[in-house]
Amino acid sequence: MRKKLVAGNWKMNLPAHFKVRVNDNIDVVLFVPFTHITECLSDYPVILGAQNLYPGFNGAFTGEVSAGMIRNAGAEYVLVGHSERRSIFGEANELINKKVKSAIDGSLRPLLCVGETLEEREKGITMNVISEQIKIGLNEVDDIDIEKVIIAYEPVWAIGTGKTATSAQAEEICKAIRELISEMYSSEVADDIRILYGGSVNGKNAKEIFSMPNIDGGLVGGASLNNEFNEVIKGAV
Ligand code: PGA
Repeated sequence: MRKKLVAGNWKMNLPAHFKVRVNDNIDVVLFVPFTHITECLSDYPVILGAQNLYPGFNGAFTGEVSAGMIRNAGAEYVLVGHSERRSIFGEANELINKKVKSAIDGSLRPLLCVGETLEEREKGITMNVISEQIKIGLNEVDDIDIEKVIIAYEPVWAIGTGKTATSAQAEEICKAIRELISEMYSSEVADDIRILYGGSVNGKNAKEIFSMPNIDGGLVGGASLNNEFNEVIKGAV
């Protein structure tokens, strides 16, 4: 049985403190700005994650932060390949792959985000785009290390737009991702890997989306910044 996971992505926001109500049956992760990992560890009863990392141990990479540094700050997870990193910062699948491997080497769990743009969906190439993101993103990640990886399907057209994929649309892609993982690894790995949906998840739609058989929780932006996050968590219980 896969344990449900509800993750909040604060992006470059620092919300006023609110009480997060956790539940033993699910994992709750907050991806917060680097500068607030340590503070949030004591303020919130959740697992902490960072929103980015740079591959490598240390070196002349001004402004960058390594997996080891993130781990030392107390985080256990890291987001990799978020669509804002891909589109605003031009991150390609090859760099994303280096980040996934570096996260694993640094004892972090990478949450690999994948998803198509509206144009790609309309052209009917959604799964081609996602297959490439996953195949390159997980290149050289072996059968053991894949256990540390979580995948989030986030259609770009649904992020921050208020336009959620329907639960059927989200399920269709998450199921196809699980089939792809089965081909790339094995049916056991595919049964165990957690696949989340992200893109305008909120307190009202979470329960229906999270009840789909291949959706193991969500990655939540806007609705993780206040008390609504507790409604999203409830949707996974
Ligand atoms: P959203 O963001 O929930 O505000 O659409 C999701 C994300 O960017 O991970």
